[in-house]
Amino acid sequence: MSNSNLPPKDQPKMGWSENNDRTPCLVVHPHLKSERGNLRSPQARLEECVGLAQAIHVDVVHSEVVNVSKPKPATLFGKGVVELIATTIGRAGLEKHEWPENTIDLAIVDAALTPIQQRNLEKEWNCKVIDRTGLILEIFGERARTSEGSLQVELAALTYQRSRLVRSWTHLERQRGGLGFIGGPGESQIELDRRLIDERIVRLKKDLQDVKRTRELHRKARRNTPYPIVALVGYTNAGKSTLFNRLTQATVFAEDLLFATLDPTMRSIELPSGRDVIMSDTVGFISQLPHELVAAFHATLEEVHEADVILHVRDASHPDTEAQRLDVLDVLKTLGVEEKLEECLIEVYNKADLIDDETLSILENRVTRSNGRVSTVSAITGQGCEQLLEDINTLLSSRFQTFELKVPYSDGQLLSWLYEHGEVTDRIEGEEDFSISVKMNDMNASRFKQKYPQFFEPEEEIEEKSPSGWSPT
Ligand code: GTP
Repeated sequence: MSNSNLPPKDQPKMGWSENNDRTPCLVVHPHLKSERGNLRSPQARLEECVGLAQAIHVDVVHSEVVNVSKPKPATLFGKGVVELIATTIGRAGLEKHEWPENTIDLAIVDAALTPIQQRNLEKEWNCKVIDRTGLILEIFGERARTSEGSLQVELAALTYQRSRLVRSWTHLERQRGGLGFIGGPGESQIELDRRLIDERIVRLKKDLQDVKRTRELHRKARRNTPYPIVALVGYTNAGKSTLFNRLTQATVFAEDLLFATLDPTMRSIELPSGRDVIMSDTVGFISQLPHELVAAFHATLEEVHEADVILHVRDASHPDTEAQRLDVLDVLKTLGVEEKLEECLIEVYNKADLIDDETLSILENRVTRSNGRVSTVSAITGQGCEQLLEDINTLLSSRFQTFELKVPYSDGQLLSWLYEHGEVTDRIEGEEDFSISVKMNDMNASRFKQKYPQFFEPEEEIEEKSPSGWSPT
């Protein structure tokens, strides 16, 4: 066997979406007894999974919630359920040439399946089976745009694939020709595939290190820009990309598919106050992100660490909006930006056009009490967007520190540093020096303090405004 059994780099890494015609597919959400009492209803979780499936361009022809009181090690579901689903799929006990036309080709199980469960279900149902991790990997694989995103996803995919080499679904097999539904590769084939995957993983890890180094350089360069960063975060499908487009007039891929964004996209815009900021769109959050994918996902949230403002975009029209909010906050806390949330989070209730008047007025009451920490908008109609830009500006002004300094004419270096890293709001020429009023974000302010400690002898510092003490909503 040649190396060509491995997915070539420049081809889609995995994918049902490789096919032009849509694969007929079934989605099943196992409602485990242990999960009863979960904030989100099983029906809502099924709908979310159907949404995710649509993101890989399959045709969901059937979806259902199935109660599972005791997960079976061999098949997850009990015998009765397995048979029932086999009947829905319509291929039970039939040879391939006997399959009725347009029967279901793919079953998505909205849970983590063990390789054995996956293999057994494929046998029982006579179709490909993927689990939640496989599905999200498909989506990440399609949407990764930066080199780091692609490498992280490929790494996660190969690691996942390696654990499943016992049975199909893997690219390796599909490329081996045949339909691969029945029977699997021989042991020696599996060993060979494993070794090739291992070699690829080693190479990927090395590439990732290189990419990370380059990215660190880019980040350093960006830190040097005086512009504050406004990062949009939020649950998948909340409308981040649409809002980003609306606010930046840019054209970023926005559509009614979950995960339309994988890697951060950045644009600079001028706020109505004249202040320039960098807007950064990030990948959508999702509940129960499979642990294998956490690194890939976190790599896409880099900008949040450096953000001066975090816009938490929420789909206020979604019945699970509160549970989604908690999921997002949980992930942000795991990223270690908990403190930041208190200082720089604006909650944006999006899709206001879809909300009834009564709910809207409750939200708007909250907005009035929030001192700019909550905004109601519709990214589609543009309603509330001007106000949101003002709120960003107000928050930034409160977070920016203002220094009033006397800079000797002879100190051109300091003068240019201040212009480069801050916003000089006033400059008066005196006899021997300039009286300068300059605003800086927290990061540049602390660099300034380190670089020019002489200004911070008590008598030298004339005024320093501290961030206002808004409390989070
Ligand atoms: P991910 O990339 O999956 O995280 O999604 P996202 O949060 O970037 O969502 P996106 O902007 O792709 O929007 C998802 C869907 O919601 C699209 O169909 C949008 O047209 C729709 N949408 C976004 N904002 C609004 C809004 O204010 N009102 C209405 N009615 N629909 C909206």
